[in-house]
Amino acid sequence: MPRIYLDHNATTPVRPEAVEAMQRVLTLHFGNPSSAHWAGSEARDELESARGQVSSLLGVAPDTVVFTSGATESNNTVLRSAAARFPRHGDRIVTCATEHPAVLDAADDLRERGIGVQLLPVDRDGRLDPARFSDALDDSVLLASIMWVNNETGVIQPVPKLAAIAAERGVPFHSDAVQALGKLPLALAALPLDFASFSAHKLGGPKGVGVLYAREGQRFQPLVRGGPQERRRRPGTENVPGIVGFGAACAAAEADLDERSGRLGALRDRLWQAIESKVPDAWQNGSVEHRVPHTLNVSFPGADSEALVEALDLEGIAVASGAACASGSTEPSHVLLAMGIPPERSTCAIRMSLGVTTRGDEIDHFMSVLPGVVERVRGA
Ligand SMILES: Cc1ncc(COP(=O)(O)O)c(C=O)c1O
Repeated sequence: MPRIYLDHNATTPVRPEAVEAMQRVLTLHFGNPSSAHWAGSEARDELESARGQVSSLLGVAPDTVVFTSGATESNNTVLRSAAARFPRHGDRIVTCATEHPAVLDAADDLRERGIGVQLLPVDRDGRLDPARFSDALDDSVLLASIMWVNNETGVIQPVPKLAAIAAERGVPFHSDAVQALGKLPLALAALPLDFASFSAHKLGGPKGVGVLYAREGQRFQPLVRGGPQERRRRPGTENVPGIVGFGAACAAAEADLDERSGRLGALRDRLWQAIESKVPDAWQNGSVEHRVPHTLNVSFPGADSEALVEALDLEGIAVASGAACASGSTEPSHVLLAMGIPPERSTCAIRMSLGVTTRGDEIDHFMSVLPGVVERVRGA
C-alpha cells in the first residue's frame, strides 16, 4: 500500500540539505558557540552562517533574527513581553478569532492576569477586515497580533496593510507567520512590522527550532533568564544543529519558492477539481482568492472529520481534521466556527496540505480512494 503524506501544514519531511548540514554540525562542529577556543569558533561560524540563510529568506538584517525553540515560544515571548510593560487598567491585546492556540492560549493566560484580550472576527472567507482592525486600535492597545497565513485553511490575512495601520496608530504589531515562511515572498524589512514568529519544521527544517524576528531597535523582554546568548534576547546554549538545519531549509526554500508554488498550486487545483466532480456536495472552506497554493480545506457533509482521517489512514493516506496540532480532539474547528461555518459542516472538514515531496501520481491515487472512503464513512 502506498504511503501518501498530505499533512505538510502539521509538519514537513526534513529536506536532505538540512539533514546534511545537521550531520556536519553533529559530527564535526560540535562546540559551544560561546567558547573562546577553535571548537567554539567553528560552531559560532555555523550559527552565524545559518542566521544569514534565515534572514535572507525573511528579507531582514541578520541581527534582527533571534533563534528560539519554535513559534510557540516566539509567540509567547512577544505577547508576555507586551503585557509586562506596567499595563494600566483597561489595557488590552488585540488579536483574531482564527489564531493558532500558540497565540490564543498565551492571550488567555494574560486575560487571567487582568489584561484585556479582544478577539476580532473574520468574514465567511476567513479574512479580517482592515477597517474593523483599525477601529479596534487606540492607545490602550499594548500589542496587535494577527497571523499571516491560517494553518487550517491557508487563508492569507492582509498583514502588510494591517501592519501599516498599526504603525499609524503607534501600536506594536506582531504576526505569527509560521505558515507563510517559504510559501510567500516576505521581504519583512520593507514592512512596518515589529515582530514575527517562525518555525523550522513547517518548511523542511527540524522540530524544536524557530525564530523571533524583532525589527531593528524593537526591544522585548526575554521569556527566560540565564545567559548572554542571542545578544541577551534568548538565554541558553543555542541548538546549533537545529539552527543549521533551519538555515539549510531556508536556503532550499528560497531557491525553489517560485517553481514550488506554481507546481503545488496546480496540483491543489487539480485535487479540488477531482473532488468537485466525484463528490459533488463537497465544500471548499476559506477564501479561494487569498490562499497559499498548497492548502485545501474541504467539508464532506455527513462524514465526520475524525472518521475520515482514520479511514484514510487505513489506506496509507495522511490528512488532518481541524487544527493539526490539536488533532485527536473531537471539538469542531474554532477556525471554521469563527468563519460562520455551521457545526454540521465544520465537523466534517478535512485539511489536505501539499509540500515539496508531493507528486501528481499521489494526488491521482488519493482521488481513486477518497470517494469510496467518504461513502463508507457516511454509511457508518
Ligand atoms: C500558525 C502556527 N503557529 C504556531 C505554531 C506552533 O509552532 P511550533 O511547532 O514551532 O511551536 C504552528 C504549528 O503548529 C502553526 O501552524
